[in-house]
Amino acid sequence: MYPLNRSALAPSARPKAPSGWGAAPTVARIAAMALALGALSACDREKREFEAPQAAATAPKLRQSSIQAGQPQPDAPAAAPDMPSTPYRYEDNAYAVSQGKRLYRWYNCSSCHAPGGGGDWGPALSDDKWIYGSDPENIFATIAQGRPNGMPSFGGHIPEDQIWQLVAYVRSLSGQLRKDVEPGRGDALQASPPEAARPTEPVHPAPPVTGTER
Ligand code: HEC
Repeated sequence: MYPLNRSALAPSARPKAPSGWGAAPTVARIAAMALALGALSACDREKREFEAPQAAATAPKLRQSSIQAGQPQPDAPAAAPDMPSTPYRYEDNAYAVSQGKRLYRWYNCSSCHAPGGGGDWGPALSDDKWIYGSDPENIFATIAQGRPNGMPSFGGHIPEDQIWQLVAYVRSLSGQLRKDVEPGRGDALQASPPEAARPTEPVHPAPPVTGTER
């Protein structure tokens, strides 16, 4: 007699492993997946990155403005345009957008673009007209390099991740972000509704440069 060789048994002769998913009704399966997806996206919205991996605040390679925030710094010696070296985008993150809102006030963006970005000496940021483009990279470059007709260059003066937070806030002003990450009321008490809930501002054209202001 030969010993019984178990591995030679036909697959159909083996007991079937119970498959949990296979048994669950489709509706329950879809509901579970929707819950899991919801939890994932909620995480991004609520994440608080207190120590974002930062690129040092190095001077940008190219400044397009003669005005700089704070003490003037030399340009880095290179001809390439200064584009973001970090891939951070905070556009799905409510905490980062509200940090951007604070920085907008702290760095005095509001003195030229008005609180809420309605425009004053600088152009409105809450409408859909863009001189230099509305993509995150365009706005990053605007803040880092400055722009020739009076927009100061902040690159080298503030860390890159703060520029990204400002980018996210600036884009929220013109309704380019998800509604549920847009910042609500500011730190100070205010009588008007949050800027994200106000009607779109009328277009303010950039003032003509006469050469006598600076
Ligand atoms: C001294 C006044 C001043 C300050 C301070 C200032 N800006 Fe500006 N900003 C301007 C002017 C003027 C322009 C238009 C420049 C041009 O047309 O070349 C501009 C342009 C811009 C643009 C481009 C708008 C477009 O239509 O493409 C963005 C975005 C912007 N500023 C964001 C900011 C942010 C964010 C801050 C704060 C970190 C800031 N600005 C601080 C005056 C200022």
